[in-house]
Amino acid sequence: MSNDNMNNNTYTYTYTTLLASITQRCEAVGQSHILSHLSDTTISQEDKLSFLQSINDVPLESLADYLKGALEEEDKLQNVDPTNNDADKEVIEPFAGETASTTTSDPAQLASLREAHTRGMKAISNGQVAALLLAGGQGTRLGYNGPKGMYDIGLPSHRTLFQFMAERIKKLGQLSGGGDRTVPFYIMTSPLNHEATTQYFASQNNFGIDVQFFPQGTLPALTPDGKIILETPTSLSLAPDGNGGIYPAMVKHGILSDMKARGIKYIHVFGVDNALVKPADPTFVGYCIQRNADCGNKVLWKTSPDEKVGVVATKDGKPCIVEYSDISKEMSERTDEHGRLVFGAGNICNHFYTLEFLEKEIVPNLGNMYHVARKKVPYYDEELKRTVKPTENNGIKLESFIFDVFPLSHNMAVLDVARVEEFAPVKNPPGSESDSPDTARALFSNVAKEWLRKAGAVLKGDVESDACEVGPLTSYGGEGLEEYMGKEVECPFSI
Ligand code: UD1
Repeated sequence: MSNDNMNNNTYTYTYTTLLASITQRCEAVGQSHILSHLSDTTISQEDKLSFLQSINDVPLESLADYLKGALEEEDKLQNVDPTNNDADKEVIEPFAGETASTTTSDPAQLASLREAHTRGMKAISNGQVAALLLAGGQGTRLGYNGPKGMYDIGLPSHRTLFQFMAERIKKLGQLSGGGDRTVPFYIMTSPLNHEATTQYFASQNNFGIDVQFFPQGTLPALTPDGKIILETPTSLSLAPDGNGGIYPAMVKHGILSDMKARGIKYIHVFGVDNALVKPADPTFVGYCIQRNADCGNKVLWKTSPDEKVGVVATKDGKPCIVEYSDISKEMSERTDEHGRLVFGAGNICNHFYTLEFLEKEIVPNLGNMYHVARKKVPYYDEELKRTVKPTENNGIKLESFIFDVFPLSHNMAVLDVARVEEFAPVKNPPGSESDSPDTARALFSNVAKEWLRKAGAVLKGDVESDACEVGPLTSYGGEGLEEYMGKEVECPFSI
């Protein structure tokens, strides 16, 4: 048999087997309409095969459950009363669980947080802590085409966001006494940026640390009665399933079992777009361990009531993130006896979980975690024989947010940290007034200057410069700069 013939046979076999299994699966869940164009002889076999392969990745059997849960939750949300006045509706109250602040001046709390840091370091050196980066987003607002983590905010070293994170992880392993590979780094990509991300890390030899990648899933858009929408005869209308897609993706790619096999107990999860993020932050991780929390959230206290971030709160007695649009003006402006905003615990996409909580509480509840996003979804019109862009919402996209699981927590802990030390968001394009690479670079430089000042250095030259950098391999959080005591350092600097 010639090679060509053999390949052709293998191919036919794969196609036939896949077609049989997918036909059976589609029939069982009432989605056979998506296969209606497979008898069209003008469509190539290659296109048909890749179409079948794309369907194979869709959790067909779970879609109806996901949609049901999402519609029920949409219904409930419509019953939230933003004024908190209607006794029949869900009540939003301030978060009432464990809280602490690194910005406190209370000596007892500071001592307790130092103890938490020591605990965190111990867990790290024992190999019990993993860092997990959410890098499946598309960076649309930033206007950058590649994976957002490959963005260079313009510091002297031209390190990318990925490099800052990877090197901080390396440094932390060294500081803990466990070595370069003590903190395993997991990165969630998306099918759109997986290859570019893994290739970039490979080109940097993974920055000398232990990295694993796994792509989040995509889900098909549905009609309101749950039918999958076809975008063309051989493509589904697929969209990423939001950063809450982390949970099914961890199950699907064996990340939970991998963590378990390695003895990991605690996971710090964070977003890609914060140049000052502290991966596997020993203080935050140690604080959550100290408070016996199954889930934790690092927050920044809102500086003004109208700052548009979600806040940690309690809804129907359970912890959650409430969007700013879901609380009234009066509630967002409410202050305590110290003048601090009561609904002020601003979410910065920085979360802690125990592996046990992921396994025992989250995994069994995955069917209930999607939100309905009603959208104008382009669809293939059978009569017009082309894809049509609707002018009205015609479809439902299912997406989930990573914090959707907070209500499952039995003991959630919130740690408030200093904005100037830990948050340099990179969300908008260069030149934007806020959350841009320029504002992030300035914030980063201020931290570098502050660390040196605290170490006793005397800053000279252009002290206003936004190009000052203490590299992550030099210092993780301001430590190890004793040699600068009493020394003059010319700004800008890169050390
Ligand atoms: C996020 C938070 C918001 C918080 C803000 C602060 C969520 C849902 N929202 O908003 O409450 O105030 O950060 O910075 O977390 N991502 C994926 N896959 C996706 C979508 C996003 O991995 O399908 C990742 C992104 O790469 C990023 C993170 O999740 O690392 C945050 O996502 P993004 O959509 O940028 O959220 P924000 O609107 O910034």
